[in-house]
Amino acid sequence: MTTILAIESSCDDTSAAVLRDDHVLSNVIASQKVHEQYGGVVPELASRAHQQNIIPVVDAALRRAGVERDGLDAVGFTRGPGLLGSLLVGVSFAKSFATALGIPLVEVNHLQAHVLSHFIDNGGPRPQFPFICLLVSGGHTQILLLRDYFDIVQLGTTIDDAAGEAIDKAAKIMDLGYPGGPVIDRLAREGNPDAFRFATPHIAGYDFSFSGIKTSFLYFLRDRLAEDPQFIEKNKADLCASIQRTIVGFLIKKTERAALDLGVRQLAIAGGVSANSLLRSELQRVCAKHRWQAFIPPFEYCTDNAAMVGIAAHFKYMKGELADLALPPYTRGTR
Ligand code: KG4
Ligand code: ZN
Repeated sequence: MTTILAIESSCDDTSAAVLRDDHVLSNVIASQKVHEQYGGVVPELASRAHQQNIIPVVDAALRRAGVERDGLDAVGFTRGPGLLGSLLVGVSFAKSFATALGIPLVEVNHLQAHVLSHFIDNGGPRPQFPFICLLVSGGHTQILLLRDYFDIVQLGTTIDDAAGEAIDKAAKIMDLGYPGGPVIDRLAREGNPDAFRFATPHIAGYDFSFSGIKTSFLYFLRDRLAEDPQFIEKNKADLCASIQRTIVGFLIKKTERAALDLGVRQLAIAGGVSANSLLRSELQRVCAKHRWQAFIPPFEYCTDNAAMVGIAAHFKYMKGELADLALPPYTRGTR
């Protein structure tokens, strides 16, 4: 039995979790409200907020888990990718904390953590290898083939914006606040997804592109607003439902294609956008149609959280893959 403290600070959520093997004892997340007024994450403000949050968040995670510091076996942390100033806070804290306690460190890749959140024990079935995971967040959009926990093949990726970024930008154009994903999801429920059509680009293979969708949404609104300045206000729900349908349809179509081509019968989603209600129901629909199995994470493990870092750290710790104190954070890619 291993008890791991996990730290996540790659973007604008400061999070700490305690896991006993694959079971989450606590998962504390401090989201940073300071970015809302700027319509996006301001890196300098994010790292300052992490500095303020990290100690109270870790303290709360240990207390909620009922675990003393000397009951910990290792400290897992997100090493990258992410914002450097944000990562540095979590990485430095993890290193100092582990050193003070004389326990090992385990470094975790943020994207792998999102995907491996499917192996957190929540009483339900877990995917079997191989399975396909659509990883959709504010920074990434990838179709991945998982052959083992850390044997992950990237089948496709976005060639420009991430899906979450496109949703957030559409929300910004409509002045819905930041992050716009949850607002669009909520407003779309009262709207007609067929009200407006936005073309999706033809991109080869399993890759995506979202910048064209965003631009056509922007130009469409500019033209309509010229005729009627109240256009957005009058059609908000229909606009949200239509743009959401366009983006989710594109994501699902490519993921379904990949599963058909590879003969894989299990599909999972992960990352912040996997909290989207249409994406969740569309995955269920496609899987029911083909008699595939769908894996959808609980909401608390969709957006950034340390529990997913903890499960990834758990598997690495079990393999004896410990991190060196000298390891610096990285902002891009995987390693
Ligand atoms: O994984 P995440 O928390 O952070 C990154 O690693 O990027 O993902 C954040 C993204 C944002 O773009 C946010 O708008 C989107 O996830 N998001 C949603 C929903 N909840 C969060 N997008 C659509 N519908 C939602 N319900
Ligand atoms: Zn993330």
